[in-house]
Amino acid sequence: MRMRSRRLLPIVLSLLILVLLCLSYFSGHLRDPPDDEFLLHLPAEAEQTLDKTTRPGEPSVPSGPLLNLTDFDYLLRSNVCRKADRELLAILIVTSYAGHDALRSAHRQAIPQSKLAEMGLQRVFLLAALPTREHFLTQEQLVSEQKRFGDLLQGNFVEDYRNLSYKHVMGLRWAAQECKDHAKFIIKLDDDIIYDVFHLRRHLEALEVGQPALATSSTLLSGFVLDAKPPIRLKANKWYVTRQEYPHALYPAYLSGWMYITNVPTASRLVAEAERVPIFWIDDTWLTGVVRTRLGIPLERHNDWFSANAEFLDCCVRDLKQHSYECEYSIGPNGGDDRLLVEFLHNVEKCYFDECVKRPAGKSLKETCVAAAKSRAPEHGLAEIKPVKLR
Ligand SMILES: *[C@@H]1O[C@H](CO)[C@@H](O)[C@H](O)[C@H]1NC(C)=O
Ligand SMILES: *[C@@H]1O[C@H](CO)[C@@H](O)[C@H](O)[C@H]1NC(C)=O
Repeated sequence: MRMRSRRLLPIVLSLLILVLLCLSYFSGHLRDPPDDEFLLHLPAEAEQTLDKTTRPGEPSVPSGPLLNLTDFDYLLRSNVCRKADRELLAILIVTSYAGHDALRSAHRQAIPQSKLAEMGLQRVFLLAALPTREHFLTQEQLVSEQKRFGDLLQGNFVEDYRNLSYKHVMGLRWAAQECKDHAKFIIKLDDDIIYDVFHLRRHLEALEVGQPALATSSTLLSGFVLDAKPPIRLKANKWYVTRQEYPHALYPAYLSGWMYITNVPTASRLVAEAERVPIFWIDDTWLTGVVRTRLGIPLERHNDWFSANAEFLDCCVRDLKQHSYECEYSIGPNGGDDRLLVEFLHNVEKCYFDECVKRPAGKSLKETCVAAAKSRAPEHGLAEIKPVKLR
């Protein structure tokens, strides 16, 4: 009996090792399940994308210094503009924290790149390097995200809200250079924002026809105008600004970074001028306020498109589903709900096939949304991402 178990031991052990090896092999392959239909037909195209960006001799945007970051370079590049087979209406540049992979996945599910392409649009996410405190995502995972989707543009500076100005300039500069001959408009977005892409497309098409001089001018900046706000001088606030960082009592009028529209000539001017102005870390205030003012570019106001209230967009989804009511707003924060963008875009699209009705009198969002908002779970409050915008 003893002899037999001794002889069996090595066999059992090697079997066990074999089983473990198999398990780890398969779990490695299963860890990244296809969470949408994209995986089925994208990899070949995405691999090509990657090959192109890394092939030596291929003309590509020089990285060069970025503002005062002399060793700036890209960790990941995208060529979604260059490989577009026809002129694009717009390139969407979406500021995204590198660790927000689930949120980017929601964007792609809400509207995949293939559908954007049909609409004459393309999208890239603007990322920086993962900070050491990030424990949920690795650079390796970002590399495989890039292999699948090819829509990441990542700078080598470290992710931090105090580094957002670098990211913003990186995005505008890339779009102005890389999409120069490819895209008529640039739409800047944040990843935690709900936006009605069908509305934006319709607006841009109308702008091309109705105001062609503005559309192609070097003075196109339109979005949510915030007039002369004072800097926050309370030390405890995340958005506390010292007098050394910003000495004046008021900011110039600027556009909220949630969403704004510009074009290649305007973005080029902003980026060039940004090199000549001391960097200020509140990116939208700096670029579309301080830097813009020096160039004398006026702001085009579309404040009625925006809701600062995530509940309103949530109520819009409910009413679109139940009554096909048009939504009064096109853009607003997601309130910490990653899925809201998916729900919103999947339900609002029918309105562009004339399948929606105007909201009846007495049923405005302000009147009908309050109760629903109150019954929501407390952790579902407004994200603290940019409270400076909500005042
Ligand atoms: C911004 O990025 C630079 C360059 O990577 C890094 O040294 C710095 O720590 C970052 N700033 C903050 C506030 O994290
Ligand atoms: C760049 O400028 C900012 C703002 O003046 C400063 O805080 C930062 O240390 C500078 N970074 C480098 C790498 O010189």
